[in-house]
Amino acid sequence: MTSALLKPSMLITPAGRTQRFTESTIREMSRLAAQYQATNLAQGMPNFPCLDVLKQAAADAINADINQYSFTWGDARLREAIAAKVATYNGLTYNPETEITVTCGAAEGLAGSLLAFVEPGDEVIILEPFYENYLPNVVLAGGIPKTVALEAPTPENPTWHLNEATLREAFNDKTKVILLNSPHNPTGKVFTLAEMTLIAELCQRYNVLCISDEIYEHMVYDGERHVCMASLPGMRERTITLNSLSKTYSITGWRVGWMLAAPALTHALRKVHDFMTTCAPAPLQRAGVTALGFEQHYYDTLLAGYEERRQAIITMLDDLGIEFAQPQGAYYLLADVTDVCERQHLPNDRAFAEWLCKEHQVAVVPGSGFFHTTQPKRYYVRVCYSKTLETLTDAGKKLAALKA
Ligand SMILES: Cc1ncc(COP(=O)(O)O)c(C=O)c1O
Repeated sequence: MTSALLKPSMLITPAGRTQRFTESTIREMSRLAAQYQATNLAQGMPNFPCLDVLKQAAADAINADINQYSFTWGDARLREAIAAKVATYNGLTYNPETEITVTCGAAEGLAGSLLAFVEPGDEVIILEPFYENYLPNVVLAGGIPKTVALEAPTPENPTWHLNEATLREAFNDKTKVILLNSPHNPTGKVFTLAEMTLIAELCQRYNVLCISDEIYEHMVYDGERHVCMASLPGMRERTITLNSLSKTYSITGWRVGWMLAAPALTHALRKVHDFMTTCAPAPLQRAGVTALGFEQHYYDTLLAGYEERRQAIITMLDDLGIEFAQPQGAYYLLADVTDVCERQHLPNDRAFAEWLCKEHQVAVVPGSGFFHTTQPKRYYVRVCYSKTLETLTDAGKKLAALKA
């Protein structure tokens, strides 16, 4: 018999699927940062303002009364603008009527893609370490996450890298999807053409769908260029490309993203999207047309700003004697804090992150939050540098305490 003293909420059992993943470590560290008034190098969002022209475009859209639901798969003008940008910058042709769907950020695109294609029991390959959302989204879709660890940097190969044999072993007849994210969060890795070609070959051999998360495509350093998975031979028909306004235009709170996929894939994606969110915010979709219409100069300036921030963080960590693989893209790196943990008698990366936040007022994310199956041999923390140079300098001063 149930006790009358039990609160009603205690009688309601959450679905088992909610027990199979934890809360976000990134958001947890952001809360800790707020509590200790720490400089937040944890959460992946810029702390600089968005361009005035975009603020104006958003206000204009609201004033023009674009305030009701948009067409479910996205404002037609935005879909046309996406198609035009993808043609110009990626050299790919997508039909806005049948192949482009606007979502509430790439986050919805990811969840929706998995819900649309993963049956219970299907295996989904995730390259580890990975962006936190990947695992819960696979679990929520009923899939079985199959993690493949990237190899940690070595003196011979100083980037995080794919091991061909391990990847080949992970593919089998139960594999339905592989999640690819290049440029990569949290390592800052850009997958090489050889690695992408290997993934493409295996996808075709095992009839696997590739969900390619390319939201950092405009942050590729050292004169390199982003390569779309869908541009590789045989991949357009089996790739869903995810992208969004969030990172490219520094407006993570607008929640406007999109999925590019062949018509047969798009048909299923749109059904899920419609019943999940109806549409992305209508006035912000319309304002997004202005963003997507920017000329090359905008992207050059964005990249130059990030090259500068990347240099600032590299110099800072080098001065402290902290090791890391030099980021080739995105705006993160994984710093190896094993030596500091030993010096400070901290048992692991989580203890390090909490200590750094509480004692030195700098928030970073424990690297273990990005691993599921393999735990790396060293302790890492993710450092995000999409911050003003003043913020990075401020963090640098506080981090001086880490010097050996
Ligand atoms: C790899 C990756 N994918 C997706 C997202 C979510 O992007 P959006 O803001 O477009 O939902 C993020 C956000 O940090 C990310 O790092």
